[in-house]
Amino acid sequence: MKTELVEISPLKDEAEAETAGRWIYQEWARLEAPAVWQENKADILRSLDPAVTIPKFFGCRVDGELAGIASVVPHDLPTCPTWGPWLANVLVMPHWRRRGFGSALVRYAMEYADGLVPALYLYTFDQVGLYLRLGWQTVREDVYLGRPITIMRHSAAPRASVP
Ligand SMILES: CC(C)(COP(=O)(O)OP(=O)(O)OC[C@H]1O[C@@H](n2cnc3c(N)ncnc32)[C@H](O)[C@@H]1OP(=O)(O)O)[C@@H](O)C(=O)NCCC(=O)NCCS
Repeated sequence: MKTELVEISPLKDEAEAETAGRWIYQEWARLEAPAVWQENKADILRSLDPAVTIPKFFGCRVDGELAGIASVVPHDLPTCPTWGPWLANVLVMPHWRRRGFGSALVRYAMEYADGLVPALYLYTFDQVGLYLRLGWQTVREDVYLGRPITIMRHSAAPRASVP
């Protein structure tokens, strides 16, 4: 059996950024206000700068091919502008699903944010179970784009205090 090389890290170049942008537009942004897509696009490109910590977009590659993405972005839910940052754009291409890549991307983004911010937020239309399994807690139910959503939060691990 052939062994696959699976790798998760920040998006590497403009080609990956272009692919991520296309996926995000198809999956969500085309249904949202144009300003949301403009912010998404700007975040993806800014994230390529190694000096920028948030926004940051991550890719999961199988033998070098992009199979999925996730991101930590300052804003995501227009109706909750004061909360954040957000775990957003968690997306695995259909033929790579149900192999653990989505969970691995979420864990990677959580660990990334853990050292940077006290808490991460997300909203989801239908993936509450995935996030509950990964330690997220429900904050509240809401409605976005006419559909029910669940807003969730994950707190950073407590730091050991300095004596
Ligand atoms: C949600 C999404 C990112 C999950 O990606 P994924 O790679 O399939 O995620 P995982 O493989 O980690 O977990 C998905 C399921 O596969 C199962 N699974 C994981 N590894 C598996 C394996 N090796 N064999 C069989 N099943 C497996 C998980 O237990 C989970 O089961 P469940 O759906 O019954 O709870 C993906 O379905 C997707 O892109 N959906 C469209 C966009 C979306 O909804 N994004 C989330 C926004 S909040």
